[in-house]
Amino acid sequence: MDTIIVLDFGSQYNQLIARRVRELGVYSEIVPFYHDLEELRQPHIKGIILSGGPNSVYDEHAPHVTRDLFDLDVPILGICYGMQITQYLFDGVVTPSDKREYGKSELTITTASPLSEGLPDTSTVWMSHGDHVEALSSSFELLGTTPSSLAMAKHKTKDIYTLQFHPEVTHTDYGKQILRNFVFSVCHAVASWSLDDYIDQTTALIRDKVGDDLVILALSGGVDSSVAATLIHKAIGDQLTCVFVDTGLLRKDEGDKVMATYRDHFHIHVIRINAKDQFLSALNGVSDPEEKRKIIGREFIRVFEQFKADHKDAKYLAQGTIYPDVIESVSIKGPSETIKSHHNVGGLPEEVDFELLEPLRELFKDEVRKVGLALGIPKHMIMRHPFPGPGLGIRILGAISERKVAILQEADAIFIEELYAQDYYDEVSQAFVVLLPVKSVGVMGDKRTYEYVAVIRSADTVDFMTATFSRLPFEFLDHVASRIINEVRGINRVVYDITSKPPGTIEWE
Ligand code: XMP
Repeated sequence: MDTIIVLDFGSQYNQLIARRVRELGVYSEIVPFYHDLEELRQPHIKGIILSGGPNSVYDEHAPHVTRDLFDLDVPILGICYGMQITQYLFDGVVTPSDKREYGKSELTITTASPLSEGLPDTSTVWMSHGDHVEALSSSFELLGTTPSSLAMAKHKTKDIYTLQFHPEVTHTDYGKQILRNFVFSVCHAVASWSLDDYIDQTTALIRDKVGDDLVILALSGGVDSSVAATLIHKAIGDQLTCVFVDTGLLRKDEGDKVMATYRDHFHIHVIRINAKDQFLSALNGVSDPEEKRKIIGREFIRVFEQFKADHKDAKYLAQGTIYPDVIESVSIKGPSETIKSHHNVGGLPEEVDFELLEPLRELFKDEVRKVGLALGIPKHMIMRHPFPGPGLGIRILGAISERKVAILQEADAIFIEELYAQDYYDEVSQAFVVLLPVKSVGVMGDKRTYEYVAVIRSADTVDFMTATFSRLPFEFLDHVASRIINEVRGINRVVYDITSKPPGTIEWE
């Protein structure tokens, strides 16, 4: 399949570049900047995009490539840092700067080229850079400028283009057109990436690989494991057995919903293990968040090990690993590293004596969702907000008790129900209730109350690395708070969390 490689220099936008290319119907993969050059010399690799990155080319540990990259005889597009490193290697003048240019700017095309086909003479582009190119390499010609930069350039004889701005972000008006021009007019790639084909090809591959063997999968009810289960089930039917561990720390009625969807609707063989008592007694009296996470992870592994022992004949362990997990575990230093530590928490042991089956390894989250919808998983299951592995265990601050779990489940269910009812659910990225370990005084009827405080949390984010609190209307919050206080025994005060990330995190623990 024709492929465009994104060489990762640490940009927060690198996944976006690959997604944009895939949206054009051409397969794209992200590899670290130090990837073996020889492996990039393959006929299906039609072009290479050098991503941006947070460094200056002059930094001591700045990611560098060698000039050999440009002798691969494949078209190259350098974006932002990718432009600077290209110009630097071709003896252009890159000027270090201690202040960043950040925001919109106006691009003026000064010389037409295949890259600017279909662009007007001037258009809005998005800048986010520190260093800038002061003078182009003598091997390059200028194609476009913004008031403050040499914004677009091309090698005089080779298909090497550089851009100071970011075509992959939506703030760049003709960004998609520029990428389309690069992929089709410069690289001459053929659009052959489609999710329908992906489903057919992947189910065939699974059948081939698994043969008559048995597969087990830990189903969390989250999007990734659910889509993986459904896809594998489509391929091999009853050779798949799923285990759903009910930790007792899930959302209200979660276990029943998962069983109804996957066992009753899809007829997938799902074994539900009710391990609430085991988890709650292991957590008894524990209030440190990291310790809670460790205990929940450990107990999960115990339950799973037991399940595994009961299914010795299974040869494969299936997992809902998706492409961002794969990239994040190889990525160079950069923001993508920061959330990594979460991934194995509440998950499976790293060492398992199974062969792994990871049918979603190549897909981005939005692609996983599309596959899920195409497989018939109900939209409300596919579009659900993420839910952390340790579940309500990290949303009940301090020590956990069965009563607190029940209180939080009720309050959370009301908030989520209202978000759906008033059409806010799909607008916010992650919403939930947190139960605080403090009580406050209130008055209900003519009685004084002394009950717990609950926090409503709702975050808007693209990547979960940065987030702002959702600007939900006061009337809505008022309604949710009244319902929680009136309907949930044990809560008499509700507050709204208006902290962004950073400096806060989305979860409270
Ligand atoms: P924070 O709180 O770090 O959360 O801003 C970012 C995203 O990660 C989720 N999260 C977790 N997911 N195990 C998980 O599987 C965890 O221990 C964990 N902690 C946070 C959080 O829900 C949000 O989507």
